[in-house]
Amino acid sequence: MATQTMQPLVFDASVLSRKPDIPTELVWSEKDRPTSDSFDELDLPVIDLASFFSGNDETALEIAKQVGEACAKHGFFLLTNHGVDEGLLEEAQRRTEGFFRMSLEEKERVKRKAGEIFGYASSFTGRFASNLPWKETLSIPTNAAEEYIVKTLGDDFQQYGNVLQKYSNAMNKLVLEILEVLGLSLGVGRWFRDFYSDNDSIFRANYYPSCLKPDLTLGTGPHYDPTSVTILHQDEITGLQVFVDGKWYTVSPKPNTFVINIGDAFMALTNKRYKSCMHRAVVNSTAARKSLVFFLCPRKDKILRPPESLINAEHPRAYPDFTWATMEEFTQKHYRADTQTANVFA
Ligand code: SIN
Ligand code: FE2
Repeated sequence: MATQTMQPLVFDASVLSRKPDIPTELVWSEKDRPTSDSFDELDLPVIDLASFFSGNDETALEIAKQVGEACAKHGFFLLTNHGVDEGLLEEAQRRTEGFFRMSLEEKERVKRKAGEIFGYASSFTGRFASNLPWKETLSIPTNAAEEYIVKTLGDDFQQYGNVLQKYSNAMNKLVLEILEVLGLSLGVGRWFRDFYSDNDSIFRANYYPSCLKPDLTLGTGPHYDPTSVTILHQDEITGLQVFVDGKWYTVSPKPNTFVINIGDAFMALTNKRYKSCMHRAVVNSTAARKSLVFFLCPRKDKILRPPESLINAEHPRAYPDFTWATMEEFTQKHYRADTQTANVFA
């Protein structure tokens, strides 16, 4: 039941994590709850980015082919030798842990208001009265990460802001390289890279406290990313699951490896050659879990239209032109009407 006026449920992890009975708003209906067979591992290609850039043309084409096959099937693959400093990954994870371990009152200094994208949210939404996720999030603009953190949390958080800015910059660089691989895989060269060279991307840290009833709830409910390309860094705790061929599978964390997936906006930009795929995150009873997520987003008013070479008799236009500003409307009209799975930003 959606409602505009409802007060968001306040999720105080230090209290809720120790409760044997979880609030009904956080209990999911039986059909959505995680089952034991959802922990089967999904077989994903592991893409070596350094080989793509340093190898010969043949190597690059072979790597692009693997990426293309995965993206045409479900839109997920793993990325290693990505060039992002391991120390930066560790520091971003460690300082994010420090942020989420603060008291609710302290975190709420950067509270996200209903209808807004940026800020701290605890089991949020204001849009939904049931099926609430067992998580807390912190979302910030990648183009002004440090400024945003210092403005909202104060000078004491300058270091955290600085690390998130470095992380955002590293992701911005990395995503353009990933777009080169995707471009080669579809025979459009640097088209995607050039298209997103100027972007308005979002960084989000997810924190999933432990839960004494992990079988009844979900950390992130089933959804499709509305954005373009997602770069996910999981800590060492398992939780990500992807829905492939009618079944849920797990994508376990691997050291120094990113999970990459295609979002709805990019699916349209490839004229539906590549898929956006439903995924979710489960929680567990013993350990809190964190994921750091970079969502590539186009500039709000930039027109999304696939490159001409992807449109032909065999592949007529799958969707009309649209802009990121109208993504929600576009999703409901062309992809799916169910708002709970449609919008990751809820
Ligand atoms: C998400 O898809 O929004 C989060 C996935 C994760 O935390 O692993
Ligand atoms: Fe997602």
